[in-house]
Parts: sequence; C-alpha cells; structure tokens
Amino acid sequence: MVLPIQLRFQRVSDAKGFYKMLNNPNFTFFSAKPKSLQDEIDFLTKNKANREKDFEYNYAITLRGKLIGGCGIKIDQHRKHRGEIGYFVAEQYWGKGVATTAVRMLEKIGFEKLKLGRIEIIVSPKNKASQRVAVKCGYKKEGLMRKIIDDTGKLNDGILYAKTV
Ligand SMILES: CC(C)(COP(=O)(O)OP(=O)(O)OC[C@H]1O[C@@H](n2cnc3c(N)ncnc32)[C@H](O)[C@@H]1OP(=O)(O)O)[C@@H](O)C(=O)NCCC(=O)NCCS
Repeated sequence: MVLPIQLRFQRVSDAKGFYKMLNNPNFTFFSAKPKSLQDEIDFLTKNKANREKDFEYNYAITLRGKLIGGCGIKIDQHRKHRGEIGYFVAEQYWGKGVATTAVRMLEKIGFEKLKLGRIEIIVSPKNKASQRVAVKCGYKKEGLMRKIIDDTGKLNDGILYAKTV
C-alpha cells in the first residue's frame, strides 16, 4: 500500500523536526546535515528567497499532517533547465515507499511547473536504498562522478542518475 503522503513548502516551525531527523546517526550517506538547530532555522528562513531567486525549491514530506521527511530540487544556475533532486525520510518510515512517492511528486513539479528538461539524482555508491529509489522512479544511471559529494570537506564519488523530458 502506498502511504498517502503530501508535499508542502518547508516552514521555519519544522526546524526541530528536521534537525532531529537529519542528525540520526543512521543517515550515513547524507551530507547536508545541520550543525545546530540555529543552522536549520537559518536554512529554513532562506527557503522563500531561494525559491524567488529560482535557486532551490524545498518541501516537507507529511503523512496526515505529520512531518516525516524532506525533499527538494536545486536549479543549476548556469543551465536553468537542469535540476537536482535530494530527499530524506525519518527512519521509522523507511521501506514503505515514501521516498519513491516523494520523488515522483517532486519530478512532476520539476518538469511541469518549473519546466525543467533534465532532473538528476546523485547518490553515494554505498547508498543502496537511495539507488533503488532512483531506479524505481525510472532514472537512468549515467555514470560515476568522481569527488562530486562534499562530505564536510571530504570529497567522495557519486553515481549520477538522470531523467529527461
Ligand atoms: C534513502 C531513503 C531516502 C529511502 O527512503 P525510503 O522511503 O525508505 O525509500 P523507499 O521505501 O521508497 O524505497 C527504498 C528501496 O530501497 C530498498 N533498500 C533498502 N535498503 C537497501 C539495501 N541496503 N540494499 C538494497 N536495497 C535496499 C528497499 O527494499 C526499497 O526497495 P523495494 O521497494 O524494491 O523493496 C532513506 O533511507 C533515507 O532517508 N536515508 C537517509 C538519507 C539519504 O540517504 N538520502 C538520500 C541521499 S542521495
């Protein structure tokens, strides 16, 4: 059964929920972790301006109103038709199809509302669950990008998946 999740814009009041979720030590291959609650508040505060500047569009994933994850699309500022999707889900909801459904909803926004021509997902070669999400959503593996993921100063490789219009 697919859980009836929804996407809505992130709010500053989501800060505690996201901070706790993202600092789960089992989020092994996720590099964008806030260092403090204030960091997360600052990030969320900039979301509206970032949308208005066409930099990035970030959403909360909710289930019956409860915050259970986050996702977003970053727009390449030199090639505006190119977006990169990222996502995370609270651990107690893993394996229930949440990320897969969220990516499908998000790419609809990307292709239909934002008029993107190409959406990418870049995943650590060790992150098997995330690779599975990309494949289930129909993204094609295009190759290995060397030293593309910045894990707080350490540059790591990532597999590039992409879908085009
Ligand atoms: C990656 C992540 C988003 C997946 O979310 P999710 O809601 O559990 O994803 P889904 O349920 O839609 O799909 C997960 C798939 O991976 C599979 N999977 C899980 N662990 C796996 C593993 N170790 N090896 C292979 N497949 C695995 C699941 O079985 C499922 O596939 P299936 O439907 O064919 O059975 C979640 O684990 C997470 O938030 N991780 C931390 C943050 C992160 O890594 N984000 C992605 C950065 S690129």
